[in-house]
Amino acid sequence: MKLSNDLFAVAYLAATILFIFGLKGLSHPKTALRGNRLSMAGMLLAIVVTLFHPDVTNYGIIAGGLVAGAIIGVPLALRIQMTAMPQLVAALHSFVGLAAVLVAAGTYLMHVQDGHLNPVVLVELVVGSAIGAITFTGSLVAFGKLQALLGSAPLVFKGQHALNGALILAVFVLSASFAREHTTGLFLAVTAISLVLGFLLVLPIGGSDMPVVVSMLNSYSGWAASATGFTLNNQLLIATGALVGSSGAILSYIMCKAMNRSLLSVILGGFGTTAEAAAENATKKACRAASQEDAAFMFENASSLIVVPGYGMAVAQAQHAVKELYEQLHHRGVEVKFAIHPVAGRMPGHMNVLLAESEIPYDDVLELDDVNPEFARADAVLVIGANDVVNPAARTNKSSPLYGMPILEAYKSKMVYVIKRSMNPGYSGVDNDLFYLDNCSLIFGDAKKVCEGIVTCLKTN
Ligand code: TAP
Repeated sequence: MKLSNDLFAVAYLAATILFIFGLKGLSHPKTALRGNRLSMAGMLLAIVVTLFHPDVTNYGIIAGGLVAGAIIGVPLALRIQMTAMPQLVAALHSFVGLAAVLVAAGTYLMHVQDGHLNPVVLVELVVGSAIGAITFTGSLVAFGKLQALLGSAPLVFKGQHALNGALILAVFVLSASFAREHTTGLFLAVTAISLVLGFLLVLPIGGSDMPVVVSMLNSYSGWAASATGFTLNNQLLIATGALVGSSGAILSYIMCKAMNRSLLSVILGGFGTTAEAAAENATKKACRAASQEDAAFMFENASSLIVVPGYGMAVAQAQHAVKELYEQLHHRGVEVKFAIHPVAGRMPGHMNVLLAESEIPYDDVLELDDVNPEFARADAVLVIGANDVVNPAARTNKSSPLYGMPILEAYKSKMVYVIKRSMNPGYSGVDNDLFYLDNCSLIFGDAKKVCEGIVTCLKTN
């Protein structure tokens, strides 16, 4: 059975509307689940309707693709740890990029034989292939850095920006030539240069700036999908790709603002600074250690406490122990608030998701701008597995890779307790000046065990 064009248009419009409401739902933890369900319904509708498209004739290949995808995707999705989500997302972006290159190449080869190539189609093909190729290799590098297969330090060399500029220019010039007098050689040249560009644009970006890169690649993958939609003459793919592309761009802008970086320098690659500052860690300084009992005593006698969760809370899966700590202190009349940094953890909204999972009330979860004025007033701060997001070097040390990034001003509080396992640095690889301040004590141990220990002390006191 094949559907009429009108029915397709209506179904595709309905799917697009579901995606838009899905995206809107994702803007708040309370509505995120509903947003996900709406998007899933939209995707199901899109896939089912497309199966009835007149051009779809070979169901064997489609079934094979669905089965192969499900065999790889389902166990991966079930087993993936929340902390490994960014590298999974980067890997998935690389597939979108590769698909865009392959669709463009396949369409070009098909139409070169039947002679159905006009300048508009040629531009669509070459643009789709170029964006796809940059997304593909850029995402591979991001995956390598996030999975620690490549060093997180920025790879910078002399003349990097000039080389990138020359390659970008070459892509434009060769694409314009391809639109005028298409040859397979020109198509391959644009694709090959774009593949190299993807590597070169992401390699110079340092570890702590990876969040912006991941959301930027998210945006690129959307535009690559949109370009594929033009190639395949599929309006739904054009609209969906544009939604992903623009929402990824908006997210990148928000992340850039949160990290005090310029969006242009992300697009051009190489806003990562040198890793020299990491070497400065060598100087040995003294820090103060505290016990769970000390912290419990301090917290139950405080009138206000701010908790700063970070990547270590996610690794230790300490969110439920943190909820218990919250309840214990709340019952004792202590005001407990949570401070969320936009890039805490390893993905946007990472801490919000974990705190929502353990049902900590949203009203007690504050964003950076709202909570920063509170630190100076708070009796105590408990930093749970966070490091870079509370590093005062971002304010004071111009040579630090973190310099310029807004931080949670925990150091301003009367007393700061930090739970971590060792003196190891955070994701950016730089030492944290906070740990050596007079008002800071470290409680060494796994975040979950230490939080459970503090709760036990509170219960027995
Ligand atoms: P980090 O700076 O990465 O520090 C995490 C700290 O957690 C480490 O110092 C580590 O110290 C500690 N830790 C690890 N496992 C632990 C455990 N089981 N128990 C207790 N502590 C543990 O984290 P952050 O402050 O959340 O900052 C995030 C960083 O990641 C930023 O640099 C950000 O730019 C980057 N990043 C963010 C994202 C997104 S989108 N959020 C994506 C990629 C990268 P020990 O090893 O000594 O325990």
